[in-house]
Amino acid sequence: MNIAIKTAEDIEKMRIACRLAAEVLDMIDAHVNVGVTTEELDQICHDYIVNEQHAIPAPLNYRGFPKSICTSVNHQICHGIPGNKQLKSGDIVNIDITVIKDGYHGDTSKMFCVGDVSPHARRLIEITRQCLFLGIEQVRPGAHFGDIGHAIQKHAESNRYSVVREFCGHGIGKKFHEEPHVMHYGKRGEGAEMKPGMIFTIEPMINLGKRHMKVLPDGWTAVTKDRSLSAQWEHTILVTEIGYDILTLRPEEL
Ligand code: MF3
Ligand code: CO
Ligand code: CO
Repeated sequence: MNIAIKTAEDIEKMRIACRLAAEVLDMIDAHVNVGVTTEELDQICHDYIVNEQHAIPAPLNYRGFPKSICTSVNHQICHGIPGNKQLKSGDIVNIDITVIKDGYHGDTSKMFCVGDVSPHARRLIEITRQCLFLGIEQVRPGAHFGDIGHAIQKHAESNRYSVVREFCGHGIGKKFHEEPHVMHYGKRGEGAEMKPGMIFTIEPMINLGKRHMKVLPDGWTAVTKDRSLSAQWEHTILVTEIGYDILTLRPEEL
């Protein structure tokens, strides 16, 4: 296992890429409304990233992914492909943004509510957001990656939700996905030790029903097997000398 320690220059460039990714989520908020298609959201993000940010949407053509963002609606867990279906009142949707700026990746996602969303869906979204932040709070030099997974799994399961196991957080930098795999379940003290200068994502996917998933015939879209709702939030995190820095933090989260 070889987890990169980023240089000061890497970190400065990661800060910029991550800020841009966060700004895309802020920008798209006003467009996530009843009747919009996820394809239209993709087009707006694409144009903003390319023309305003002078950056690159990392998903486009990544291992054959056909669009610039991922949009995962309701029982879709992650990697949803934007399409011509309109969002309707009551839908919950994860929008996952990764931009490349000056060769560095910033990766972040959040949940959006469309129109009137049921209390049980809102609760899933909020507990999943809490899972992300409980994971982030574990981050400091000397902590183990298992501490993150344990904190997330404990909170999800004590709320009678389940943690998706097939996808995890990841190291990130000049590469979109690098070591380590950041599991969203596990035991305290397991896994590698965190060191200052490591940068990775935490991106728990939490299901209202059972944890099992399948991938649709499009080869990308992961859905819950039992068709229960799923939520996800993601940040890119730097390990600092004293703890963590959330590189993709948005003003609304301060
Ligand atoms: N942004 C996703 C992640 O958090 C990865 C998307 S890969 C894609 O790791 F090809 F679907 F875009
Ligand atoms: Co990610
Ligand atoms: Co992502």
